[in-house]
Amino acid sequence: MEFYIKDASKFINKKVEIKGWMYNKRSSGKIIFLQLRDGSGFIQGVVEQKNVDEKVWEAAENLTIESSVIVNGTITKHPKKEEYEIQVMHIEIVNLSPEYPIGKKEHGPEFLFENRDLYLRSKTPWAVLRIRDMVFRSITNFFAEEGFVRTDTPILQPTSCEDTTQLFELDFYDEKMYLTQSGQLYSEAAIMSFGKVYDFGPVFRAEKSKTRNHLSEFWMMDAEMAYYDQNMNMDLQEKMIKRIIKDTLENCKLELEILQRDTKILENCVKTKFLRKSHFEVKQELEKDGLKVDYNDDLSTEEEIALGNKYQIPVFVTDYPFEIKSFYMKSFVDERGVKRAKCADLIAPEEAREIIGGSQREDDYEVLLNEIKKRNYPKKEYEWYLNIRKYGSVPHSGFGLGLERMVRWLSGVHHIRETIPFPRSTTLNRP
Ligand code: 4AD
Ligand code: MG
Repeated sequence: MEFYIKDASKFINKKVEIKGWMYNKRSSGKIIFLQLRDGSGFIQGVVEQKNVDEKVWEAAENLTIESSVIVNGTITKHPKKEEYEIQVMHIEIVNLSPEYPIGKKEHGPEFLFENRDLYLRSKTPWAVLRIRDMVFRSITNFFAEEGFVRTDTPILQPTSCEDTTQLFELDFYDEKMYLTQSGQLYSEAAIMSFGKVYDFGPVFRAEKSKTRNHLSEFWMMDAEMAYYDQNMNMDLQEKMIKRIIKDTLENCKLELEILQRDTKILENCVKTKFLRKSHFEVKQELEKDGLKVDYNDDLSTEEEIALGNKYQIPVFVTDYPFEIKSFYMKSFVDERGVKRAKCADLIAPEEAREIIGGSQREDDYEVLLNEIKKRNYPKKEYEWYLNIRKYGSVPHSGFGLGLERMVRWLSGVHHIRETIPFPRSTTLNRP
């Protein structure tokens, strides 16, 4: 029977074979402790000189960090802790590693990310990227249960969805194309066939901002729903986020422990209703709290962090000034005469900041056409998008979740580059 380290508790006193790697080693005279990993987990192998052949002892002595190795032995429970060990009887060295570049000493992030291919083997990336996998699965299950159809959207697009200054342009058979910023516009077409859809894939932003929250290539999940207004949109987002947190807390205990993640706030987020506050209200509050705010602008990094720290629960910040938001959003004029978008950014606590952007979409042909003209977008390229409003238009809404932002919050790592296997940003493109 195949054995994986994660199942060790079910194999006490049984003979097993581990096919893996040695990530560390310690010896005290006649005992050598091998720190082994096989992808599914970590376990300590105990080699006692008195119990093994001379050849096995020699192999244990020769083993170097990150050598690949097949080990046979018996699983035992650690006498004091809830941990398991393997009492090693046989060792087969598959490949003996020369001195490993990532040693026991502390390395800076620069060095670790220049060697990301090797750094992936360390415990922190192992834990973070398994949480990423959990989020992916959680979202897929959630949308299947909610009756959504996954309809993926093209990576090469002739138009921009968000900010036109952040486009990566490329030559596509002598025509201009851009790498997608979001699949939203295509999802809007798809709901007219399927009702509720989502996509999940890589998107690209030529981000000038070098922050611990920005990547040039990241994964976005766009969801779009026919006959949903902005309130229904937020209800759905809240349900999804709570589900992701719950699944992660339940299924990623070892990962969270490796990351030394204090999960108190996350646990509370599963049980407590998220807040909904208008952009104006938030600016007013933060001003009272002593921050210098601009009522006409987006929330700054500082403001998003302050909001998260104040409430320790996600806050839907609604009704941003229309001028600073995307052309496709439905708008209204508030009681102060300010044109606002029927939208919300979801601001997460613990300095995680904006994890979701969403809105109700403009469903009126003429209003949308005027906005496209006003912003000097090439009308011809948006004709198909306008057609969604021509043939059986319905009120509809949607949102986009940044996968890496979500994973950064859950795992509590400082920098977003930790949350994707091979990050791409202005400074990090190797390997
Ligand atoms: O707020 P954004 O720009 O919204 C859209 O693209 C919409 N078209 C989505 C939709 O309604 N379907 O991006 C959505 C999310 C943000 O909230 C953030 O989590 C993430 O994508 N995001 C980034 N993540 C990492 N690096 C970047 N440079 C990001 N820019 C946005
Ligand atoms: Mg946004």
